[in-house]
Amino acid sequence: MNDLLASIIKSTQGDYPIFVGNNFKKDLAKYIKNNYDPKRIFLISDSKVFASETINLINELENSNIKCESLSIDINETKKNLDTCAYIYDWLLSVGSERNSILISIGGGVTTDLVGFVASSWLRGLNVIHFPTSLAAMVDASIGGKTGVNFKHGKNLIGAFKQPLLISMDTKSLETLKERELNSGWAEAIKHAFLFDKGLLKKFQMQSKDIISKKDPVFTEIIKRSVQIKAEIVSKDEFEKGTDRIKLNFGHTIGHSLEGLTEYGKLLHGEAVSIGMVVATNISKNLNLISNDTKNEIISTLKQYGLPINLTKGIDIKDLFDNTKNDKKVKNGKINWVLLKDIGSPVIKDDVPDSIVMDSIQETI
Ligand SMILES: NC(=O)c1ccc[n+]([C@@H]2O[C@H](COP(=O)([O-])OP(=O)(O)OC[C@H]3O[C@@H](n4cnc5c(N)ncnc54)[C@H](O)[C@@H]3O)[C@@H](O)[C@H]2O)c1
Ligand SMILES: [Zn+2]
Repeated sequence: MNDLLASIIKSTQGDYPIFVGNNFKKDLAKYIKNNYDPKRIFLISDSKVFASETINLINELENSNIKCESLSIDINETKKNLDTCAYIYDWLLSVGSERNSILISIGGGVTTDLVGFVASSWLRGLNVIHFPTSLAAMVDASIGGKTGVNFKHGKNLIGAFKQPLLISMDTKSLETLKERELNSGWAEAIKHAFLFDKGLLKKFQMQSKDIISKKDPVFTEIIKRSVQIKAEIVSKDEFEKGTDRIKLNFGHTIGHSLEGLTEYGKLLHGEAVSIGMVVATNISKNLNLISNDTKNEIISTLKQYGLPINLTKGIDIKDLFDNTKNDKKVKNGKINWVLLKDIGSPVIKDDVPDSIVMDSIQETI
């Protein structure tokens, strides 16, 4: 597994590895056996990937003499709630999980968030391994220990920091992911390049044909590098107390506002973030932080990956602007805008004039 090691995350709950590769379930099962020697493992899977991913993983774990209990759930964002947690708690009770049991979450970010939260709360905390199967969950949701569920008053209001034992990303899983979901994941992966890695952005631009057609080794390598960036940031700023993790919010101020106005579901998260990154880029340009060429480079890369760069029809600019004030990240009424001074060089500003924000939104129409 050494060649698959992408990163080691440092956390107050222990350091742990992230493995990224293509088709290595057998090696993963052996690794789990050798490192944790569990008698039983409890797998909780999104039903959409049960046949393609979970069954294979169960077979490999059982070949390594680990008895598996599995639960396949028909899950989506509207079911990321306490009712589904209770359903999983019931199941864990019925199959006899114990305090030192290991759960494995298999699915997209909804599943890793939900199962991570179950692992943080059931019996005051079990062990969890994440096996993300969507690109968004690989490059973003599964990394960093934030887990949670939605509440009637808003998204992710109930949650906990729960660091897993390990995260395993098998890019073969992505073969069955819908193109629109894949592109939405690219938004977060490319965001990491805009923020921290000029070289990675060049790869996204120059090798887009191979990346989009999932051709290895470049496909797996590019995901691995993007994962490393998020892993480095969360290792430096586990609880988002410093100025590192907040930078990952590039494109999210407008992105979240847009998601709120279009009602969740119409735009995928990565699509809303893509439009948000265009607005943040326009703001950066209008404040003379970046050149017109850099701005065009950012926008054309998003376009290359099938991401939207224009504001959704029917959205009122004033509503979009006003709604940014509802963002969780707003402190004392001031928005912390994550902007760019250059590719690979983010800056946080809390004094962007309203008129510049409005103009920058207007430019995306
Ligand atoms: N904890 C964090 O730090 C963090 C960060 C970002 C996002 N999130 C959360 O992640 C969630 C979004 O993640 P997501 O975009 O992965 O959503 P998701 O889990 O709903 O997955 C997207 C869709 O793809 C399907 N799917 C997943 N893997 C598949 C595969 N291999 N083949 C075919 N279909 C597959 C799912 O069933 C679903 O329909 C949100 O709930 C968000 O709040 C959490
Ligand atoms: Zn995001």
